[in-house]
Amino acid sequence: MRNVLNKITVALLSCMMLLSCDRHRNMPGYDFMPDMVYSQAYDAYSENPVFRDNLTNQMPVYGTMPRGQVAFRYNVFPENRLFAGQTLLSREEMVMKSVFEGKKLYTTFCVNCHGESGKGDGFLVTSKKLPVTVKVGDLTQERLVKASRGELFHVVTVGYGMMGSYGATLSELNRWKIIEYVKVKLQGQELGARTLSGANPALSEPYADFEARIAKDFERTNGVGPAGSISMGAINQAWVTEGEALFKLKCSSCHKPTRKYVGPAPKGVLSRRNPQWIMNMILDPEKMVQEDPVAKELLTRYLAPMANQSLTEDEARKILEYFRTLE
Ligand code: HEC
Ligand code: HEC
Repeated sequence: MRNVLNKITVALLSCMMLLSCDRHRNMPGYDFMPDMVYSQAYDAYSENPVFRDNLTNQMPVYGTMPRGQVAFRYNVFPENRLFAGQTLLSREEMVMKSVFEGKKLYTTFCVNCHGESGKGDGFLVTSKKLPVTVKVGDLTQERLVKASRGELFHVVTVGYGMMGSYGATLSELNRWKIIEYVKVKLQGQELGARTLSGANPALSEPYADFEARIAKDFERTNGVGPAGSISMGAINQAWVTEGEALFKLKCSSCHKPTRKYVGPAPKGVLSRRNPQWIMNMILDPEKMVQEDPVAKELLTRYLAPMANQSLTEDEARKILEYFRTLE
């Protein structure tokens, strides 16, 4: 008797399984437990009548953050990069294993631009796939060797100049591992060093002191570049108007007329530098920050390189005329 019952049970179960498996357009089969097949919950991206904004995926409550996450309180500006360099250390100690993991991550996320050696000769660079205006930094240059891990962490987290941010793509720990790899393998530094920056005094100096030091230590020159000699008579109001418009269009993403922004305030620049120096800085900033001592010093203070806006000498002169009205 038990044998027969068992057989019937097995037969029934097989029927049920087969029935429920058969699901195609003409024979939809039968759902034994529909409330499990069709979720009662709302899908993450479906509309939702329960919430006022109709979205299922709600923003986290203001002021809260996921467990284990730490807020990154530094914005993209150089001062904040400096603070990051002076205050940030990885929460976990970095060991050789972290370096190896960092290498894998570097190979996935950075090598295309920065290259295996870190010298900025990645595939996207050598194959000329990046726009020519994008100059990939050499990670082994002295300035970055001196920079603390926290500073590089800031670069990777919020981005720098033409480089995008990886704060949302890579976890905090993974970002630290990449930095450790860069420091140890590409820059040849000691493993797991936990030093904060402060090594570059130009960075922590208040702006006024910085300018005073430049005025004391450096000779005023005309800089290097294409600018010819400049005569300055009475202010040419038509040029000022044109110059101001050009400034708004080409320069205001980094310069505000009377206050420091990404770059220095143009206000008072004619009392700090020679007119020709200013023209050269506008016309060929790349050459200036490589060869002119004052421009080099500015770069170490402002960290972001000044962009070449491909202006003609005539346009640059009009902007200079506008700067004269800001004194
Ligand atoms: C799409 C190309 C690209 C990728 C990918 C990329 N970078 Fe960069 N990186 C750049 C460019 C371009 C610069 C120079 C930015 C500038 O000077 O405006 C740069 C600059 C840097 C700098 C130097 C900042 C300075 O002060 O000069 C560091 C450090 C850096 N990148 C680290 C990384 C790390 C780590 C990764 C991987 C997580 C990475 N980069 C991925 C393009 C890239
Ligand atoms: C991408 C940001 C950026 C843009 C765009 C930019 N600059 Fe600059 N500029 C800087 C930075 C940063 C410095 C400081 C030097 C450095 O770091 O290279 C600077 C320095 C200068 C200086 C030297 C100021 C001083 O106190 O010695 C002048 C003059 C100047 N810029 C003019 C201009 C003009 C004019 C334009 C528009 C045609 C322009 N800049 C566009 C970022 C920028």
